[in-house]
Amino acid sequence: MLLAAIHMENLTKSYDGKIIALNRLNLDIPQGGIFGFLGPNGAGKTTTVKLLTGLLKPTEGVCTVFDMSPQEKPCDVHRICGVMTETARMYGQMTGRQNLQFFAQTAGMDGPESDQRADELLKSLDLWDARDRKLSEYSTGMTQRLSLARSLVHRPGVLFLDEPTSGLDPESAQTVNAMILSLARNTGVTVFLCTHQLRYAQDLCDGYGILEKGNLLAAGDLPTLCKNIGCRIRAEFRLAPGQSPEGLQKAGEWWRTEVRDEDEMPGLVRKLIDSGHDLYEARLVKPTLEDVYFEYTERREVSK
Ligand SMILES: Nc1ncnc2c1ncn2[C@@H]1O[C@H](COP(=O)(O)OP(=O)(O)OP(=O)(O)O)[C@@H](O)[C@H]1O
Ligand SMILES: [Mg+2]
Repeated sequence: MLLAAIHMENLTKSYDGKIIALNRLNLDIPQGGIFGFLGPNGAGKTTTVKLLTGLLKPTEGVCTVFDMSPQEKPCDVHRICGVMTETARMYGQMTGRQNLQFFAQTAGMDGPESDQRADELLKSLDLWDARDRKLSEYSTGMTQRLSLARSLVHRPGVLFLDEPTSGLDPESAQTVNAMILSLARNTGVTVFLCTHQLRYAQDLCDGYGILEKGNLLAAGDLPTLCKNIGCRIRAEFRLAPGQSPEGLQKAGEWWRTEVRDEDEMPGLVRKLIDSGHDLYEARLVKPTLEDVYFEYTERREVSK
């Protein structure tokens, strides 16, 4: 079996000894692909990123990134990780380009190599026109994109992104998401992505973890999450007005039923027609990440 890129075992953190910010988290994230770490405010996502990047020490349990403990070997872990958090730590009095050149040199690149890497990133994140402006004059979205560029300077194997698109307009968010996707597809980087933006997450991620109040409610890809919570695909039909088929429920102008998979659809269509219904439209509605997320978090509310 391939070594997990990120391993967490009973990972627990309490900041004050009373409230548990992260409660016995067990999770292995495979190499390559984008892992979406989801959960409401205060769930413990940023705490997890800080533990995995060695900014915090666990109260209990262990975590490793490519088999190295961020607490014991912070320099080794930082060499292979890129981190982008909500607060970018860069230099306001330096230009965007100078910031990237500086961090490239800190990572061991020589002058020409760091210039080339900085320019490459400025172009791919749509910051080329702003390259010679001071960072203090950048807008929030520009700063955020520069921060992503900074996290990528040393071509990391694991990328931790904490809300990378939260302050961005839709166009910039699209640029950033496209870049994350192309990185993951073309370079094999493992991305750990904390986000609230479930629609973007569904387009980007290969697997998910849902965290709430420090507890991992579920983990897996979308079909697995759907299956485990009983979220089914729905077959929906629009019929001639006044017709009411047996065994289907009405929802607005549609009649619907849950199905295990799409193979059931032809049989349902045939049955409706054979029993004399006039079928105007038939569709399959697959559960979205948003449906599944709320199913998990709301079910938890109900069972409290
Ligand atoms: N420095 C700190 N000192 C004390 N408690 C903290 C600290 N940082 C976070 N916490 C607490 O830990 C819990 C988890 O917070 P965390 O920032 O990890 O959540 P999050 O999932 O990143 O939330 P958000 O979506 O709002 O960014 C919260 O109860 C928060 O109040
Ligand atoms: Mg956070």
